Amino acid sequence: MGAGDGVLLYVYRGATFRVPDDVQPPKAGSRFFVSHLTVRPGERVLELGCGLGLAAVLMAREGARVVATDVVPSAVAATRANAILNGVDVDVRLGDCYAPVAGERFDLVCTNPPQMPTPSGAARDDAAAAADNGGRDGWALLDRVIDGAPAHLVPGGRLLFTIFAFLGRKRALAKLEARGFTPAVVASETQSFPRIGYERLDHLRRLDAEGTLPASGTPRTVERLVVEGRLSA
Ligand SMILES: C[S@@+](CC[C@H](N)C(=O)[O-])C[C@H]1O[C@@H](n2cnc3c(N)ncnc32)[C@H](O)[C@@H]1O
Repeated sequence: MGAGDGVLLYVYRGATFRVPDDVQPPKAGSRFFVSHLTVRPGERVLELGCGLGLAAVLMAREGARVVATDVVPSAVAATRANAILNGVDVDVRLGDCYAPVAGERFDLVCTNPPQMPTPSGAARDDAAAAADNGGRDGWALLDRVIDGAPAHLVPGGRLLFTIFAFLGRKRALAKLEARGFTPAVVASETQSFPRIGYERLDHLRRLDAEGTLPASGTPRTVERLVVEGRLSA
């Protein structure tokens, strides 16, 4: 965006976020995610995939000590700028999944990850694809987040993430249990069916083992879940 093109701003809960051209503005999933993030002052929190910093800034405003990461340089720059704009400290780092926080532990690890199942041929390597595409079954990043979480949480720590229900509620709970978490679905919400999902509807129906999508016709809505896993103290 050139200087003469204006500045796109997103205002939410009294915080203001600058939205650069190449970083997605917050969507329904982002708002659902932050609505179920609870932090206490002083808690050490890791957000993986911070985008323009909505969750990271709001958690820092609540007094959490936030490390926010993203694999896309423009997202890292946007979160840094938005933290400054809102007068909060966020430690923003560039890198893939847990690479920027090797050896560190947190009270909460959270993510609203890219999770749209992506058929072969639809994968790309631009910033928009990084925000949406979740690999063939939607779990590509999430599986790595779940697998790595126990090594990045303190005893009693929590992992919290969003999923589309068609990724599998039971599957999510089983994945968390397999890594030693006590799992729970903490919220569910009906949202508009994502535009990108229409292009991939046949692929989504094939993956929808728990039958959350109508078997025929055009879905208008999708169920979204916030899932939490808790380690024993
Ligand atoms: C759905 S967007 C969520 C953005 C923001 N947290 C929100 O809720 O609006 C997913 C974010 O994850 C980032 N991302 C994708 N792959 C990643 C990876 N391997 N490691 C870290 N971040 C990643 C994307 O660049 C994008 O900013």
